[in-house]
Amino acid sequence: MVQIVPHASTPLYPPVWDSGLSLRSNFDSRPLLAQLYVAFTEVGARPHDQSRLLLELDRLEELHAPTYRHCLRVGILAKDIALFVQQDSGTTLFVDPRATLLVDPRAALYAGLLHDVAKDQIPIELHEKRKGWTDDDQRCIRTHVLEGYERLKLRYAFTAEIVLLHHTFQKDPYPTVLPDYLHPYSETTRKLIRGCALTVALADCYDSLHRLNDCCCEGGDLTPQEIRAQMLARYPGQVEMLGKLFDYKVL
Ligand SMILES: [Fe+2]
Ligand SMILES: [Fe+2]
Repeated sequence: MVQIVPHASTPLYPPVWDSGLSLRSNFDSRPLLAQLYVAFTEVGARPHDQSRLLLELDRLEELHAPTYRHCLRVGILAKDIALFVQQDSGTTLFVDPRATLLVDPRAALYAGLLHDVAKDQIPIELHEKRKGWTDDDQRCIRTHVLEGYERLKLRYAFTAEIVLLHHTFQKDPYPTVLPDYLHPYSETTRKLIRGCALTVALADCYDSLHRLNDCCCEGGDLTPQEIRAQMLARYPGQVEMLGKLFDYKVL
């Protein structure tokens, strides 16, 4: 029996302070940051890494605080998913068509935090756009993956590899052409990269389904039942693990 222990007084969901549109940070990020520091402790993140990770998100916080908070929640949630999967099934996670994947809570937390770091390059109008997405808008938004990867790869190669894959598990995956691995990783490490990327993808989609202004998932105003149904429909290969994640209230 897996037990997920609640570790902060403020629940992560629903993210009430981001339930509508807001241009600038009129909301308080502090409860979320408090949860993040608990998460850092949980995974044994070094203080030096903690401040460097948050520094990477400074520009995004300045540009669009709701997206910044989305990154914080995705990091925390990806860590929770990875912890659950580890406790539930040893070191194995989701079964890909090709292989059983691996997870690591700390890697999932770091990559979840930075998965959309390059959205600080996206014009504010696109962050705030709610409908009427054009092909140009989509193309612009999609640049955040390769741009984030390029930005991170020299300093955080492993995190960059995970960030690169976070939109490759969805029905309309991108980028369609991926750069080679940065290093000659072992097969085990490759499974870890893919497993953490899938973990971040699930956390990302779940969070986006709670947001009114998300262009990728068209979320907002959905009931918990609708969110569960959407997640299962979007990740049909992960129905068993998703069912457990919902049943044990990780999601
Ligand atoms: Fe993304
Ligand atoms: Fe995201």
